Amino acid sequence: MCGIVGYCGYRDCSDVLVEALTKLEYRGYDSAGIAVFEDGNIRVEKSQGRLDNLRNKMLSDGKPEGTTGIGHTRWATHGKPSDVNSHPHSGEKVAIVHNGIIENYKELKDLLIEKGQKFLSDTDTEVVAKLLGFYYKKSPMNPLETIKNTVARLEGSYALGIVFEDFPDMIYAARKESPLIVGVGKDEFFIASDVTAIINYTKDYYLIEHGEIVEISKDGVNIYDEHGDKKVKTLLTADWDAEAAKKGGYPHFMIKEIHEQPDSINTTIRPRISNGMPNLEECQITLDKIKDFKKIFIVACGTAMHAGMVGKYVIEKLARVPVVVDIASEFRYREPIVEEGDLVIIISQSGETADSLAALRLSKELGAKTLGIVNAKGSSIAREADMLIYTHAGPEIAVASTKAYIVQLSVMYLFAFELALAKGKITEEECCTLTQHLELTPSIIHRILSENLSMPQFVATKLAAADSLLYIGRGLDYALSMEGSLKLKEISYIHSEAYAAGELKHGTISLITDNMPVIAVATQEKLLEKTISNIKEVKARGAMVILVAREDFKIDHEAYDYLITVPKIDDVLMPIPAAVPLQLIAYYAAVQRGNDVDKPRNLAKSVTVE
Ligand code: G6P
Repeated sequence: MCGIVGYCGYRDCSDVLVEALTKLEYRGYDSAGIAVFEDGNIRVEKSQGRLDNLRNKMLSDGKPEGTTGIGHTRWATHGKPSDVNSHPHSGEKVAIVHNGIIENYKELKDLLIEKGQKFLSDTDTEVVAKLLGFYYKKSPMNPLETIKNTVARLEGSYALGIVFEDFPDMIYAARKESPLIVGVGKDEFFIASDVTAIINYTKDYYLIEHGEIVEISKDGVNIYDEHGDKKVKTLLTADWDAEAAKKGGYPHFMIKEIHEQPDSINTTIRPRISNGMPNLEECQITLDKIKDFKKIFIVACGTAMHAGMVGKYVIEKLARVPVVVDIASEFRYREPIVEEGDLVIIISQSGETADSLAALRLSKELGAKTLGIVNAKGSSIAREADMLIYTHAGPEIAVASTKAYIVQLSVMYLFAFELALAKGKITEEECCTLTQHLELTPSIIHRILSENLSMPQFVATKLAAADSLLYIGRGLDYALSMEGSLKLKEISYIHSEAYAAGELKHGTISLITDNMPVIAVATQEKLLEKTISNIKEVKARGAMVILVAREDFKIDHEAYDYLITVPKIDDVLMPIPAAVPLQLIAYYAAVQRGNDVDKPRNLAKSVTVE
């Protein structure tokens, strides 16, 4: 979490930094700040809260004038959101921005205090700033040596942007764990937590790896390894442009991204289907390579974990291989029984989620093969997994994930079909039919988005005043309900829980009153009767029931108050279209409540701390 950025070139640096930070606000928005060289001195401007606070502050104070500087948007970890805890932080002759966590900051802080250092903030980052100042004194006029000595003392994770007062046309950066790229333009260079931040200026970038140190001047970029030796790196090019990261006429990124889902699925699955069959060879996945896996773990966080829940049902149903879905933060500390011969699938939009990355590394240590399902190109999980399927959702800006989830599902399906075929559990013909159905999902979502918007919107008005509600479903509908419930919680701040419909009566049904709306999902033909019985049980106890069901199902009108229908497709694939009304309900409920839909409180999109 936290976003860092830096600029060295000929433009108005304050403007470039603030503009870039708007693209990184998804990483945290507890405070924002910049440090810019103005007349040879470092001038820091920072402010608690959203970037707009910083903008307003600079409107009244006047913005720093210069062409070189660094910037930061914060998701608070050490120290509450406040002006003083905002980045940049300063040491002697140095200012820095930081994304990550310095685990041994307390010990270092005590040492520095003993040496007479004074601290202004509660952050771990200020310790790094002071340590840099300390080592700079030992190696005056030698930023590289100073950085090398400093990072050698740090435990934890960091992407650092650094400016030294004595080097007014230069910025420095260093990385361990937290993501960092260097953007390369014409006579201008950037550092950033991700390419989105700088895509307005350039699509060319270097991916900075663990242990590397970067030195940027107006004339070019030098990248060094941890021993101080220069490295030659490949210049990469982002495969999407600035338009993709704009709202494009929509009021929020979230609704734009919901509408992008048909395209995202197409872009993701088309290259992986040949002659009507899944073909994952470009992802190093062949029938032969996967046929012997006897046990699968799917490990992820948040929405990605919910995509894994759907994956579990689908893989178990089609390929008959047992699947355990684990929350990454639990998996890594519960001594999981993972062995050679197992497959661990790590799903992650950002590819940088700290717990998911740690789970991947642990699985490799335990001898399992790993498969990454990742959206962010070149991210840590993408680089470290044995096999990799990129999802092609493009940049997802809204903190609440929608299109990244949908493409994670689409990839889970392709993989499940391939595995089922490899295991001999489905015939080529069945595989082909399932793949055809998957290929239909973009047009079905398209239909929902062009014909069925009004009902979710209306239903959202009915929910906007609720304090709490339940989502219920069975089988795949239950797996999908988990994501529906998370979406609503994240952005509308209405408490909700997803329950397996059959489990309700074992306790939770006592919560049902006429103040507890229930969103029921019923898309599975075989389970329909049982789900309807459960729905009637809550309806009989006063709950307002919103039913999301397959459009061809004949359902007794008494079972629900409001019905949202979803076009029919093979049952196993229903979570893809049925996810859309759930996303819409959450979106419209949040809009109704006047919430900041794209940047919900307390959240960050990329969680690079434990
Ligand atoms: C954060 C985001 C969630 C996301 C989760 C996992 O909590 O707010 O939307 O699902 O991280 O992120 P990942 O990048 O690993 O998919």
